Amino acid sequence: LEVNWDVTAAEKEGYPHYMIKEIHEQPRAINRTISPRIKDSLPFFEDDNIPDSFFEDCSDITIIACGTAMYAGMVGKTFIQNKLGIPVNVAIASEFRYERPVITDKSMVIVVSQSGETIDTLEALRLAKKYTQKTLSVVNVKGSSIARESNYVLYTHAGPEIAVASTKAYTVQVASMYLLGCKLGLVTNRLSVEDAKEFINNLTKVPEMIKTVLTQEDKVAELTKRMTNATNAFFIGRGLDYTLSMEGSLKLKEISYIHAEAYAAGELKHGTIALISDGVPVIAIATQDHVYSKVISNIREVKARGAYVTLISKDEVITDKTICDVHIHIPPVADEFTIFESVVILQMIAYYTSTGRGVNPDQPRNLAKSVTVE
Ligand code: G6P
Repeated sequence: LEVNWDVTAAEKEGYPHYMIKEIHEQPRAINRTISPRIKDSLPFFEDDNIPDSFFEDCSDITIIACGTAMYAGMVGKTFIQNKLGIPVNVAIASEFRYERPVITDKSMVIVVSQSGETIDTLEALRLAKKYTQKTLSVVNVKGSSIARESNYVLYTHAGPEIAVASTKAYTVQVASMYLLGCKLGLVTNRLSVEDAKEFINNLTKVPEMIKTVLTQEDKVAELTKRMTNATNAFFIGRGLDYTLSMEGSLKLKEISYIHAEAYAAGELKHGTIALISDGVPVIAIATQDHVYSKVISNIREVKARGAYVTLISKDEVITDKTICDVHIHIPPVADEFTIFESVVILQMIAYYTSTGRGVNPDQPRNLAKSVTVE
C-alpha cells in the first residue's frame, strides 16, 4: 500500500475536531480533484489512463457503494439519468453481493469508496467483474484493494479523512461523478460540447461557493441549540435534495445519536407525517426549481402539524411563518450544484448538534472509518 500524504496534513491545525477541519477543507479538496481532470473546460481523463472507449457502448450503469459513498452514488444516478437518459441503478454493496446481478458486458459498473477497502464493496466489485470488464472505481486511498482490482480508477484527492463521519470525501465523490457523467454524455453524444463546457465551468466555481456557505457557520451552530434535546429529526426534499436528505440524516444519526430519517417530501403523506408533532425538527431542502413549489406545500403540511422547520433554499428572505422557523439561504446556482452548498450546511448541523450533546464527533460509538470485515 502506497501512502504519499504529508503527515502534518493529518493534524487538526487548530480546529477542535478533525470533522470540522475536514468540512473546511472541502474547497481545496474539490479543486485538487477536478483541476487535473479539466482541459479547455471539458472533462479530461488521459492522465488517469481512462480512454474514451471506456464510455462508449454503455447500455446501463450500476453504482455500488456503502454509506456516504452510496449517497454520493445516488447523486450520480440522479444526474446521469436526468441529464443523459441512461438507466442507472444504485446498489448497496452488502445487498448486491448476495443478489443476482442484472448486468451484461455492456453495463458500466462504478464502485465508490473513500477507503477502497470496504469488504462488501470489494466483494461486490469482484462479483460484478464476472459479468463486465467496464468497471471503474472512484477511490480516495491510493493503491487500495478496490483501486487495484477495478479495471479503471479515478482517484479523488480529498487527502486523508480522519473523522469517522465522511465530509470532504463525499463532496469530491460527487464532483467526480459529475466529471464522469459529463464525459459519458460527450462520448455518447447525449450532451453537447457547449452544454458540457457550461456545466464544467459551473463545477469549477464550486470551491468558491462552498467558501461562501462556510461563512454561515455561526448561524448554523446557533440553530442546532434547538436540536440537541431532540429524540427524532426528519430530513425532506425531492430529487437531488432527497439524495441529500439521506446523507444529512445519516450524518446526524452517526455522530449525535438522534434518530433521524430522510423522506422524499411527497412520500410523507403515506405514513410518516403521523410522526410529526409539536416541536419535531424537520430539515427541509428546497433548492430544485422544478419541484420547489411542491416541496414548499409539503413543508406547510408538516409546519401545520407543529414541526420546527429549518429550510434550506435559494430564496433571499422568507418571511412567511407558515413555511419555516429558521431559514438558511444558499447562493443561487444551477440546480445540479446546490448540493455542494446544502451538504455543507447539513454537515455543520450534524457537527454542532453532536458537540452540543457532548459527543466526540470524530469517534462515534460503534462505528469504524473503514469496515474491512463483514
Ligand atoms: C463506514 C464509514 C462511512 C463510510 C462507509 C463506506 O461505514 O463509517 O463513513 O461512508 O464505511 O466507506 P468507504 O471507505 O467504502 O467509502
